[in-house]
Amino acid sequence: MNNILITGAAGFIASKVALRLLSEGESVIGVDNINDYYDKKLKHYRLSLLQQFPNFTFYRIDIEDKGLLSDVFLKHKIDNVINLAARAGVRYSIKNPHVYLTTNAHGTLNLLEMMREHDIEKMVLASSSSLYAGHKMPFTEDLPVNNPISPYAVTKKAAEVLAYSYHYLFQFDISVLRYFTVYGPAGRPDMSYFRFIKWIDDGEELILYGDGEQKRDFTYVDDIVDGTIRALRPLGYEVINLGNNHPYTMIEMIAIIEKGLGRAARIKTLPVHRADAEATWADISKAKRLLDWEPKVSLEEGLDNTIQWFKQNRDFVRKLEIDLSV
Ligand SMILES: NC(=O)c1ccc[n+]([C@@H]2O[C@H](COP(=O)([O-])OP(=O)(O)OC[C@H]3O[C@@H](n4cnc5c(N)ncnc54)[C@H](O)[C@@H]3O)[C@@H](O)[C@H]2O)c1
Repeated sequence: MNNILITGAAGFIASKVALRLLSEGESVIGVDNINDYYDKKLKHYRLSLLQQFPNFTFYRIDIEDKGLLSDVFLKHKIDNVINLAARAGVRYSIKNPHVYLTTNAHGTLNLLEMMREHDIEKMVLASSSSLYAGHKMPFTEDLPVNNPISPYAVTKKAAEVLAYSYHYLFQFDISVLRYFTVYGPAGRPDMSYFRFIKWIDDGEELILYGDGEQKRDFTYVDDIVDGTIRALRPLGYEVINLGNNHPYTMIEMIAIIEKGLGRAARIKTLPVHRADAEATWADISKAKRLLDWEPKVSLEEGLDNTIQWFKQNRDFVRKLEIDLSV
């Protein structure tokens, strides 16, 4: 049994990674500051699922706080770190860039330092397809991305290269995973698919930025979990895309949701944001080669699972606050 530290454990992706590892009998130490970027009720809901496992330990701490992190590393003999804690929205990073830098870059640096002090070699680090915004897709990992177009992407790049220097200097084994638009049950209410399902289900007007022809390489969370766990294997330092390799337009995604809910959307369009990518599309040949990974869940199936979760948790979802400013 391994002791795996997962940061951002109350978050969408990390909670699902933790669930999978716990059910496989691993021991998970979860860390999260439960910030209020989106409704905390969702974070507590996810945590409640993890807390049913005796092999789960949780600390509500901030990865920016090296002292508190240090206590966790002293208390547990940690084998691997999966760093998924982050400030994750593109638009909010333009309003509040400092917190992105302090969490995504400085927080990652704190974890790397803890690993150095405690002789831990392996980190899986979440990065993002947002680094490719402004580039032509599909994109391979080895092409340079040195002109990020949002503070969010800048801070993800900062974390990637900080981790590289620790690999070079101290032989850390780092798997950097660039995730592409991850969706699924109990996901993030700041993301379009979550809002679209909720708005269509509630009969509310759906707010769409741009003409809906933007493409996203929507990737189902279970596939992302699978790739993240595979990336725990020794790799040296590798940057790997985890995406679906099958982009859909927003209009196509809305049509699938309408079909699943049996209701038509009332669409109101607003101007597209400058920092939003026109299209994302992952070249996943490296993930196939290094991780023997490829996505298995189609957008139709993944959205269907997500809609089922919404229906089963309708009362809970209706109480969630959606902050349109993020
Ligand atoms: N969801 C996606 O489509 C997507 C795409 C690309 C990359 N990512 C990356 O994947 C990771 C997980 O994203 P997610 O979608 O699950 O987001 P999320 O916001 O649901 O999860 C992140 C969690 O980190 C926690 N956190 C934030 N700052 C913290 C801090 N300073 N200390 C401790 N905890 C902190 C938050 O409270 C949250 O629970 C992030 O690194 C994100 O940048 C996500």
